[in-house]
Amino acid sequence: MARTVYVNGSYVSERNAVVHYEDRGYQFADGVYEVILVRRGRLIDEIQHLDRLERSLRELSISMPMGRPPLEAVIHETLRRNFVQEGIIYLQVTRGVAPRDHTFPKAPISSLVVAAKRRNWPASDSEPKGGLGVFVRDERWARCDVKSISLLPNVLAKEKAKQLGAVEAILVSDDGTVTEGGSSNVWIVDRKGALHTHPLGPEILGGVTRGVIKRLAEDAQISVVEEPFDRNALMNAREVFVTSATSFVKPILNIDGVQIGDGKVGPVTSRIFSLYNAHTLAG
Ligand code: PDD
Repeated sequence: MARTVYVNGSYVSERNAVVHYEDRGYQFADGVYEVILVRRGRLIDEIQHLDRLERSLRELSISMPMGRPPLEAVIHETLRRNFVQEGIIYLQVTRGVAPRDHTFPKAPISSLVVAAKRRNWPASDSEPKGGLGVFVRDERWARCDVKSISLLPNVLAKEKAKQLGAVEAILVSDDGTVTEGGSSNVWIVDRKGALHTHPLGPEILGGVTRGVIKRLAEDAQISVVEEPFDRNALMNAREVFVTSATSFVKPILNIDGVQIGDGKVGPVTSRIFSLYNAHTLAG
């Protein structure tokens, strides 16, 4: 069955889901996006994702394409029309269509695309599967807190990781600080079992999953330290994992060919995985 995509006011079949060649998203990457997890037909942490969308748009002076209640209605209708139970919602807003000129158009009308896609997520009783990581130089701009569709450095970093058989690129700034993953936030577990992750700020995207995991961990008496750490701290960590709406809690067992801890999925990572999994199943 052909998928239905919402494009600028209409629900159309996937093959007709096209935007104008002068859409500023297409020509300048002048836009933002969100990826929202869907489990059992429900949107997980929808409020936080839409709050972040509004924030990203505000930071770039792009208008919301419509008010929040109609936007929520479009998202839910797209989900319903595609019968997605397990998957994602992809949502993109750009500064709209205008003759090509770097400066803002006079009266821009934001473009909106919403798509629902099916994916198979791990079953509630499954153990997280570990993967390899590789260090890649963080070559992104200085506003990584904005969820911009301008993802070229992330694309190149993740392609490099894939070529090397890794599941994620671990981004490192020139001073050795581990910022985040190519499309995830990075966490380490220290010798005392505490979690460490980069603090919020322009160097990283404030992941919705990151925020949820911080709360779930603290509720479970696992301490969370939001301070920068470098690649040596990461290599000496007991456990390393990455988080995002689509990777859940993904253990990283080996980086650049060097084993992390005992090379197996660790107890803290397993615990965080099951807490987060339960959170997504509870909706
Ligand atoms: N990416 N950091 C970056 C650079 C990301 O691209 C993402 C998510 C995250 C985690 O954010 P969240 O927990 O809200 O998913 C952190 C999405 C999934 C993507 O680009 O597909």
